[in-house]
Amino acid sequence: MSKGAFQRNILITGGAGFIGSHVVRLFVNNYPEYRIINLDKLTYAGNLQNLTDIEDKPNYTFARGDIRDAEMLAALFRDYSIDSVIHLAAESHVDRSIKDPFTFAETNVMGTLALLETARRSWLPSPGGEIRDEAAPAPLFYHVSTDEVYGELGFDNTLFTEETRYDPHSPYSASKAASDHFVRAYHDTYGLPVVISNCSNNYGPYQFPEKLIPLFINNIRNKKPLPVYGKGENVRDWLYVEDHARAIDLVFHRGKVSETYNIGGFNEWKNIDLIKTMIKVADRILGNPEGTSLELITYVTDRAGHDLRYAIDATKIQKELGWEPSLQFEEGIEKTIRWYLDNLEWLANVTSGDYLHYYEQMYGE
Ligand code: NAD
Ligand code: DAU
Repeated sequence: MSKGAFQRNILITGGAGFIGSHVVRLFVNNYPEYRIINLDKLTYAGNLQNLTDIEDKPNYTFARGDIRDAEMLAALFRDYSIDSVIHLAAESHVDRSIKDPFTFAETNVMGTLALLETARRSWLPSPGGEIRDEAAPAPLFYHVSTDEVYGELGFDNTLFTEETRYDPHSPYSASKAASDHFVRAYHDTYGLPVVISNCSNNYGPYQFPEKLIPLFINNIRNKKPLPVYGKGENVRDWLYVEDHARAIDLVFHRGKVSETYNIGGFNEWKNIDLIKTMIKVADRILGNPEGTSLELITYVTDRAGHDLRYAIDATKIQKELGWEPSLQFEEGIEKTIRWYLDNLEWLANVTSGDYLHYYEQMYGE
């Protein structure tokens, strides 16, 4: 298909990461009429081996670059006639943000700002400037964000709604909150068409094994300690990553400009209960006697500023866009554990760092 033949030219940032790779796969496979340009810096969290099944598709292009690089962004928007952005590129791990907050501000805040500014200059005519082609698709800047911007909940039945006041606690969540505010400011000040979604904890294939679920699966397999922060009583609301990708598809196509949509699984777990469930399933799959890996549980010093509980009220996206999570947690966690245990080469490449050379092998640079 020639360049001009695509209905839309969508820039997906962070598409080599965990959630981004699922979003890229969904869009490339489900919308051959769209061209998907995946822009990723390939930090430690970006892995092109997450996308080997779609890398040769005619509607897929990969571009290596940093979202803070304004010149590169302007050229990309011009060369590919970018008409919409689904922005996922970010530093995403809370523990890393505690050690290195500056990198989080640089990427999550300044990077988002550079993208917003490029989109504004490309899509919005300056006073007296060129009028947009009426036949071109309506532009959209979609920011994929997190429930952590809302702060923490107590152990009651309250949930984060789209009206909950922002109250971030970690450098990671502060940087995501700041980027959300910039996205809204670009709508309110310049009229940039934007939409935001705030999602709860994702789990599933291709997640970097620094996050709780893949780290613990890998450690159970290797009979290594399972470091539980504090007493393991913190609560998270878990959603299977493909359900998040489907929600992003819906918000992109049917979400209202300037609105926010909360996404979550109505699936709260105390960390220690989740860990015991994972141990049960993993021991069964590995053929260990029940409870074998319980002895790996090791209580360690709590994460600084560890938010007590997150839980999303996803009523709005359910009612307005008809989204529902498709997978029960029991099914999702079994599928996830089996995926990691069946993809030991992926896991070995990621833990050894070999995946970092895949770009050079593929693109010869
Ligand atoms: P991830 O860490 O797995 O992937 C991030 C990707 O961004 C990587 O491919 C990385 O190479 C790329 N990247 C980082 N800095 C970049 C830069 N300067 N320029 C270009 N690319 C860069 O993250 P994830 O868990 O897939 O999260 C994706 C997005 O979804 C993030 O914005 C995150 O805040 C948000 N989110 C994550 C979760 C979750 O549970 N993981 C939940 C809600 C929202
Ligand atoms: O809520 C959405 C957020 O979920 C996303 O915005 C973040 O990008 C994503 O990383 C995730 O943040 P969390 O901090 O909740 O995820 P993590 O997997 O790091 O930790 C989940 C819980 O498990 C949390 O309460 C901390 C705890 N934990 C984590 C690790 C890595 C442990 O007890 N031990 C560990 O080794």
